[in-house]
Amino acid sequence: MKKVLAIMGSPRRNKNTEKLLDFLLDGIKELNYDINKIIVKELDIHSCTGCDHCGRTSECVFKDGMDLLYEGFDTSDIVIFAAPLYFNSINGLSKNIVDRCQKYWSIKYTIGDNYMRGKDRKGIFLSVGGAPYTHNHFSGTLPVMDFFFRAINCDYKVNYLVSNTDKNPIVDNVNIKNELFQIGKNIDNNESFYLHR
Ligand SMILES: Cc1cc2nc3c(=O)[nH]c(=O)nc-3n(C[C@H](O)[C@H](O)[C@H](O)COP(=O)(O)O)c2cc1C
Repeated sequence: MKKVLAIMGSPRRNKNTEKLLDFLLDGIKELNYDINKIIVKELDIHSCTGCDHCGRTSECVFKDGMDLLYEGFDTSDIVIFAAPLYFNSINGLSKNIVDRCQKYWSIKYTIGDNYMRGKDRKGIFLSVGGAPYTHNHFSGTLPVMDFFFRAINCDYKVNYLVSNTDKNPIVDNVNIKNELFQIGKNIDNNESFYLHR
């Protein structure tokens, strides 16, 4: 069975970020996927200290909640990362996960080993921002997510971004719910797209 790793990076449960993720997962549930949803704030995850242990050993020096995510990265066909916009970037809780993926960068570029090369893996980014729509509202997040998905060797296929969530919470938005359900149901399509609502 194919596997989905779904990362919920907001510190707030059942708010905009988690709703967005759940709407997408509701669609994916129509398919035959094993879905592993992880609530980042429930895990105890140390921040990267730049010690370069991973550059010498391929392993992170810390044994903590990140082990669950490493296992997910190492075994999933689709990685979905849902994170809210904080100060024009992904929030710190989520960025901490990204930094701890230095291990994968080290495996490939310091140690020179293969990590998931040639595997058909898909990366999906979902985000919400409280401020009203501007065309470049999420532009601070995109290079971070691009580098993250490259590090874990996922093909960064989908951005689904929603502005104005402080005024119009996702929970009330039937259009977004329906759209994400359809995207989820068709997740095996190999299209790349960028949707900003
Ligand atoms: C510390 C902090 C920084 C934020 N920075 C931004 C920002 O730069 N741009 C923006 O549009 N919204 C910003 N917001 C608003 C959040 O993106 C918005 O409330 C979002 O819905 C939070 O996601 P959640 O509902 O899943 O918790 C910020 C919120 C917090 C708490």
